[in-house]
Amino acid sequence: MRNKNRQKPDTHAVLDIGSSKVVCLIGQSDPNMGVKLIGSGFGVSAGLKSGAVVDMEAVEYGIRTAVEKAEREARVPVRSVAVNIAVRSLRSEHLTVQTEFASGEVADRDLKRLVNSSLSEFAQPEQTILHAIPLSWSVDGESNIEEPRGMFGKSLGVDMHFVMAGVGPLRNLAHCIERCHLNIKSVSASPYAAGLSVLTEDEKDLGVTLIDMGGGVTSASIFRDNSLVHVEALSVGGQTVTKDIARGLMTPPEAAERIKMLYGSALHGADDDRVNIPCPPMGAQDTLHNEPKSMLTGVIRSRVEETFEILRDRMSQKGLDNYSGRRIVLTGGGAQLNGVRELAEFVFNKRVRIGRPHGVLGLKDSLSGPDFAVATGLLKYQFLNEKEVISGPPDLTGRRYLRKRYAGGSLGRSIQWLRENF
Ligand SMILES: Nc1ncnc2c1ncn2[C@@H]1O[C@H](COP(=O)(O)OP(=O)(O)OP(=O)(O)O)[C@@H](O)[C@H]1O
Ligand SMILES: [Mg+2]
Repeated sequence: MRNKNRQKPDTHAVLDIGSSKVVCLIGQSDPNMGVKLIGSGFGVSAGLKSGAVVDMEAVEYGIRTAVEKAEREARVPVRSVAVNIAVRSLRSEHLTVQTEFASGEVADRDLKRLVNSSLSEFAQPEQTILHAIPLSWSVDGESNIEEPRGMFGKSLGVDMHFVMAGVGPLRNLAHCIERCHLNIKSVSASPYAAGLSVLTEDEKDLGVTLIDMGGGVTSASIFRDNSLVHVEALSVGGQTVTKDIARGLMTPPEAAERIKMLYGSALHGADDDRVNIPCPPMGAQDTLHNEPKSMLTGVIRSRVEETFEILRDRMSQKGLDNYSGRRIVLTGGGAQLNGVRELAEFVFNKRVRIGRPHGVLGLKDSLSGPDFAVATGLLKYQFLNEKEVISGPPDLTGRRYLRKRYAGGSLGRSIQWLRENF
């Protein structure tokens, strides 16, 4: 199928390669909603640990399964995919750069030169830039300018937000994707994609923190003034909670996962001491035993509470309290845990809601949970005009950035023209 046909130009395919599942979605542009889902497929992910590849064959198998199912449903071949990444090395950097210009009026070339110099000034070896977002421009010291072109002055400045990741995990992921005969169109940070799927325009404008509670990674993003202003990632997730349960209740990990789904809660209930949970034995010498539900809740709560506290303290230490907004939105499979919303409200002292994907036509019930926020966000991203100045797959050579080629082209209404091909 893949060799016979070509991927249609208004059709985009995305791959959410998570620690628990691989999801492939295929979408087409829709005049009313912007994007319409035409195919979806899932695969089990067994080859990732904390977002990084540890078993290439298992990752490849998951990708192939998900892509083939989605291709069959959409009846289109997939040649290139936009993918996500959530690894511990995901981080944000801000940089302000200034330049003098002689013409008196800000022109395209001044913006390009400035962005180019910020990219070269910033780039670091063995790190790659996933997103480069101009937060605001300034002309002659007058800041918060959204559109500087055509303005008069002598100096131009820009506040840039860079989202970075280590090239090591990306190289391995890229290798797995390429071995499935797919090209990588772009790589997005998972909490950014999740935000595009579930946040409202008002939340993104006023300030909001999104926390994606995945299997292997918990990542966060902060949006303000309709821009992504920060990302954060911890290599702790639902799988860590399951491991804690297996250790605490002395039961195999598969049984611990089942117990978490059936009885798990982040909040203690009135009957926790009276309810007993049957725990399958660890080995042939062991026997089935019962443990009080209060023990299970205690194990889950301490891990999830600690994860929230680490995120809260990290963001606070970075001076982000004024940006992170009064609201938290939770996504990822972990957001389905009983009591997690209330626990987040307690730790962050903010209003918390569970984020569900919206804005994609034809989204089935099975894809409308918080664990599909990243995949649906990746898909929406393909049809949006986000305020980014680079495009295409990230540079995986690991060399320090030296020279960039801009795509150039006409201005249009957006700053799309600034996008470049690596
Ligand atoms: N109802 C539930 N209660 C508690 N945990 C749940 C529930 N449903 C799913 N989970 C947990 O969510 C995790 C999977 O979440 P998700 O599908 O978002 O992960 P992923 O995207 O594959 O991983 P990652 O983003 O970390 O790479 C698993 O650890 C699973 O145990
Ligand atoms: Mg995920």
